[in-house]
Amino acid sequence: MSVENSIQAIENSATELIGRTNSLVDLEAVKIQYLGKNGIVTQQLKRISSLPAEERKGFGQAVNHTKIQISERIRERHECLEKISLNQQFSDQSIDVTLPGRVKTLGTIHPISRTLRRMEQIFDRLGFHAVEGPEIENDYYNFEALNISANHPARAMHDTFYIDDHVLLRTHTSPVQVRFMQAHEPPIRIIAPGKVFRCDSDVTHTPMFHQLEGLSVDLDVTFADLKGVIIHFIHEFFEAEPKVRFRSSYFPFTEPSAEVDMGCVFCGGKGCRICKHTGWIEVLGCGMVHPEVLKHGKIDPSQYSGYAFGLGIERFTMLRYGVSDLRYFFNSELSFLRQF
Ligand code: PHE
Repeated sequence: MSVENSIQAIENSATELIGRTNSLVDLEAVKIQYLGKNGIVTQQLKRISSLPAEERKGFGQAVNHTKIQISERIRERHECLEKISLNQQFSDQSIDVTLPGRVKTLGTIHPISRTLRRMEQIFDRLGFHAVEGPEIENDYYNFEALNISANHPARAMHDTFYIDDHVLLRTHTSPVQVRFMQAHEPPIRIIAPGKVFRCDSDVTHTPMFHQLEGLSVDLDVTFADLKGVIIHFIHEFFEAEPKVRFRSSYFPFTEPSAEVDMGCVFCGGKGCRICKHTGWIEVLGCGMVHPEVLKHGKIDPSQYSGYAFGLGIERFTMLRYGVSDLRYFFNSELSFLRQF
């Protein structure tokens, strides 16, 4: 092979290698392989001194030409690879504006909280102020002060969780009545919502549920006031005017006492599975505050009178939203909770 041909072969193989590089790193390697200090082209240049004088010029020109060619190919390839990598970067970072946005999933208010807020609003308009009492109670406030003495048969109905002989989880919100009366003078108009606990669990009972207590104490408070407030509340809450009846009943802490039924919201009073074909649904307990209870609250029963009522928040929620099973409220099923 002539000298010129072998130089040309070097140029060809370099051109081919350069064309095949896919990254700037590969290209740099080829550059070093040919044009580096010990590169193929550099070694050819070093050969010049060993050649006969008459060949040096032509050989030198040929090698220089090749060197320039290879440098030029490398520069072109460099430009090309940079463009490719830039385009790659652009396409990696591109935003497809036609994609649907990511929806932020917001939490929802638990149906029990929702009902509670609604009840608080209705009673607020009637002048009732919301207060709280402790969930861990003592025997005195949960029973004694409510006229339920140690051997009273009503204790058996309460299925109490005892912590020790005197401390328990409140079985109803009624203890807040006496706590509030002890600390405040009449006129009193309060509601006391909160958790209550009973050692009871089946399809219609959970060991924890929510009640809302109401208490009004003032001069000349009568059963008529109680009836007016309850009927108004039921109509407001259900945004309808079902019939409401007061059925004589018994609670140790109210006298007289009543349970309140309303016309079944599901069948309109005709009778269905939910109202057990009676046309009526029991919704709350109430009555005139017993004089003994007023006394425990440091209020003189000869001067003041009052009424109290207690209702189950879960029950009202089920009736308003048509929820058929109490357990939905507590099993954190998102598909249920998202409906509210
Ligand atoms: N505390 C009673 C219960 O839990 C309800 C009630 C409250 C009844 C106030 C009368 C007056 O069943």
